[in-house]
Amino acid sequence: MSLTKRVKGFVKVILGLQYGDEGKGKIVDSTASKYQVIARFNGGNNAGHTIEENGKKHVLHLIPSGIFHSEIKNVIGNGVIVNPVAFDEEITYLFNQGINPKNNLYISNRAKLMTWVHPFLDKAGEVRCGKDKIGTTGRGIGPGYKDARARKSPLVGNIFSANFEERLEKFESEQMVELETYKQFGYEVSVEDMCIAKAQWFKSLEKMKEFNICDTSYLLRKELEKGSHVLAEGAQSVMLDIHFGDYPNVTSSDTNTSGVSVGLGVPISSIISVGGVIKSYSTKVGGGKFIARMEDLEIEKAFQKEGNEKGSTTGRPRECGHFDLFALDYAIFLSDTTKVYMNKVDICPAKKIKVITGYKDKDGKLMESYPFDLNDVTELVTKEFDGWGDKEFDPHDIKTFPIELLNYLNFIDSEISKFGARLAYIGTGPDRNDYVKWKV
Ligand code: GDP
Ligand code: IMO
Ligand code: MG
Repeated sequence: MSLTKRVKGFVKVILGLQYGDEGKGKIVDSTASKYQVIARFNGGNNAGHTIEENGKKHVLHLIPSGIFHSEIKNVIGNGVIVNPVAFDEEITYLFNQGINPKNNLYISNRAKLMTWVHPFLDKAGEVRCGKDKIGTTGRGIGPGYKDARARKSPLVGNIFSANFEERLEKFESEQMVELETYKQFGYEVSVEDMCIAKAQWFKSLEKMKEFNICDTSYLLRKELEKGSHVLAEGAQSVMLDIHFGDYPNVTSSDTNTSGVSVGLGVPISSIISVGGVIKSYSTKVGGGKFIARMEDLEIEKAFQKEGNEKGSTTGRPRECGHFDLFALDYAIFLSDTTKVYMNKVDICPAKKIKVITGYKDKDGKLMESYPFDLNDVTELVTKEFDGWGDKEFDPHDIKTFPIELLNYLNFIDSEISKFGARLAYIGTGPDRNDYVKWKV
């Protein structure tokens, strides 16, 4: 049964298919000019989306990656959690770059508001977990979404209400009780640090009031009705999704395509296609089992160094792993991806590289579905390829690609075509222009 489209325009989606940091920011920025609106639907300032042009690098956390295009409307949707301090810092950065987002940035009045206590609670929770910690970005994401789900924390639109401060104070006193409980586990925040954080938060909140805070679902409705093209920019990735990732080592938002409708307030039928971003190997930051992690730590180090694999938000080193086709099949199915954007084919500091094609269970049988518990995996089935090392090629011309790279790409393209997706774009460097369209 197909749904009838209610609107002339459409929504396309870009999201990560691995464990985040696939290069989504670069893809959104380089395809932005095809859209009238770019909208973030999930996460908060845990994201770090890098955009590079002519050696100048910008990292965006909360603000959509279309912000450098003044003619494009940029929307922070209702599914996003907004920390006013992070917002203020990013806005200040943009102003210093000569970008004034006041006229083309819209924040949903239904977006979740992060209080100044949430980041402390996040860090406290990690201390409490000890060796089992999630390895969060420490930005307050988990506690922030928890309180939003519990219907406790205010929404961004509430900041204009007459009783806002009174309501916030009540909530803050509950949060302080919670924070206090972590003292027994060794987490304590000094009164001075709390005062600084609180004062900064209120100052930033005042600045945020100068921006367009509105019903962005209605804004998107009007845009879609007049035929606009909207790009939904995912943060994190399908494999970090609260429902389908390796729980609890996941983030707390709906990172998947299903999150677009609920995180933007657009009808499901307006979403017409999904592009999934991957890189030519995998990386992961944070806790939990990284099943694809490279066994040879020297090779991993080489990928970290050449691929500049450190977190765009926290600066933590990213662990590097083999390309995982079995996980990709799962992510493609869940997200309904048809177009795959592969970045980082310019990085291959190894003579041999592996692709994971399957996982085996305790009986030595190939698993049919992605496992609920990664500890049930006893062996990885892999296929080995020759690496292309530092062989030179023209980043804009597939015909100049080394044969080893072509073999690798042809194999992946043919395998993902079995899952209903095709390679569409090959990223050959960090710059927004460093890519070439795949053959199809
Ligand atoms: P995002 O969170 O998915 O937007 O990705 P990040 O910005 O956190 O991390 C991706 C990193 O890879 C950034 O430093 C990008 O500049 C870089 N990058 C993106 N595409 C390519 C590529 O094709 N080659 C290389 N060498 N770097 C790339
Ligand atoms: P972008 O959008 C990579 C990871 C953290 C941790 C887990 C939970 O740049 O791809 P959280 O702070 O969300 O509670 O952390 O999720 N994580 C990311 N990893 N890229 C991201 O965002 C991430 N955002 C969160 O490392 O394992
Ligand atoms: Mg990132």
